[in-house]
Amino acid sequence: MQALHPSTPSRPLDDLVKLDHRSFNELHARYKASVGDQRAQTAIANELIREIAQHSAGEEMTFYAAVQEHESTQLADHLRGAHQGVKEMLYTLESRQVGSAEYDLLLDQVMTELNTHALEEENQVLPTLRAQIGEDNMIKLGQQFLGAKRMAPTHPHPSAPDKPVTEAIAGAMTTPLDKLRDIPREFAERRVPEE
Ligand SMILES: [Fe+2]
Ligand SMILES: [Fe+2]
Repeated sequence: MQALHPSTPSRPLDDLVKLDHRSFNELHARYKASVGDQRAQTAIANELIREIAQHSAGEEMTFYAAVQEHESTQLADHLRGAHQGVKEMLYTLESRQVGSAEYDLLLDQVMTELNTHALEEENQVLPTLRAQIGEDNMIKLGQQFLGAKRMAPTHPHPSAPDKPVTEAIAGAMTTPLDKLRDIPREFAERRVPEE
């Protein structure tokens, strides 16, 4: 299966998810390397929070929906639960001062939680799903994942629903507000490719 541009083959879901996980860690490393430059750190943190919010919503609507269908509701709920913990921490983080000791500690905790969760996805959940549904379906899910990320809210909404249909509706309601909040914000560039 090919993307709209014929020379660009579509990437499967597992590749796309891993690229996002790498980008989170690249941004966190860049944040740490920018100590003392509050403007740079703010732009990097804005980008990191946006990427995590969109990645999480994209996974819930496509990846976890497939896990629920092909594996179990219990596993899908376990994965959604990990996102919920991260969303709540990010929500708190957004009310703290970038570069403060409290902010940096909380950000470290977010990254620890996120990396534990990402390893579970990469080493267990994605390989199992791939074995169940095959390459072609992983590519289709990858396309759906990218589409869902683009429609997703750009800030964490811990109280928003995290199931496919309802999340799409909640996302449609919160996305315009998030885009307004984003106007005065600066975002660092993403260096790890998205697809
Ligand atoms: Fe996840
Ligand atoms: Fe993930």
